[in-house]
Amino acid sequence: MNHQQRLDIAIRIAKEAGEQIARARREQNFSHQYKDDDELVTEVDVAVDRFIAEELEAAFPGEARLTEELSPDRSQLERNGALWVVDPIDGTVNFAYGHVHVAVSIGLAVDGELQLGVVHAPFLGQTFAAIRGDGATLNDEAIACSKAKSLERSLIATGFPYARDRRAPLIRRLNHVVNACRDVRRNGSAALDLCHVASGLLDGYYESVSPWDFAAGLLIAREAGAHTGHLYECPDGLPADLYGENLIVTAPAIFEPLGELLQHADAGGRVEFE
Ligand code: IPD
Ligand code: CA
Ligand code: CA
Repeated sequence: MNHQQRLDIAIRIAKEAGEQIARARREQNFSHQYKDDDELVTEVDVAVDRFIAEELEAAFPGEARLTEELSPDRSQLERNGALWVVDPIDGTVNFAYGHVHVAVSIGLAVDGELQLGVVHAPFLGQTFAAIRGDGATLNDEAIACSKAKSLERSLIATGFPYARDRRAPLIRRLNHVVNACRDVRRNGSAALDLCHVASGLLDGYYESVSPWDFAAGLLIAREAGAHTGHLYECPDGLPADLYGENLIVTAPAIFEPLGELLQHADAGGRVEFE
């Protein structure tokens, strides 16, 4: 089966998952739990994870999967061969509160390299997709990232981890970014942030996230012409395409200046407020 056929199946699955998410929100009959103390997870996250896993297994029997709720074993990142990387609901807090930035994210890596991905946002009516080397699309139309040339004219998105004790250094970064850039967005879905860099709704994005949050969106942003990378070197043994610490994804011209700004913030540099 070629990549286009695989992507078509992944898109079909993501859209069906999106219908389940939209139905669950209409009916409002799902329970909320917490994992790792403070991280919200609903019954729908788990049910949609199970649905996607069953559909992928039916279409691609025996291929490995890394899924946030039911198969989160990260040792799979080091294996060779095909690996499906799935976030059933990216933007769980948005889903639970009734906000629109909610997405299903399905990516495929082979030997650690991203090959294809789909991010489907049921409440926005947006389906982003990409195949490595073939460009990126939004609802079947080709997309390109913005042509932002300077930080002052750039809209930058980021996010924060659920663990509150990991947020302080990120506030330092935020302080620098707010000072240097047009403005900041915290929309609550890393997958969509990446796709919105891909389609020019944002000029850049940085965050540390898990593989399921970014796998599909990173490829989509890259295929739309965005520069993608990490603020610091990736560790040996883990494929860079699946390593989510200190991600930075931007319109090409602001990749370096944003990277330097964030490193300056990390090094305890002062914010030069005028
Ligand atoms: C979260 C979202 C959010 C990001 C968090 C992620 P979830 O995913 O992508 O934007 O800032 O770090 O955990 O929990 O809604 O699937
Ligand atoms: Ca997520
Ligand atoms: Ca999730």
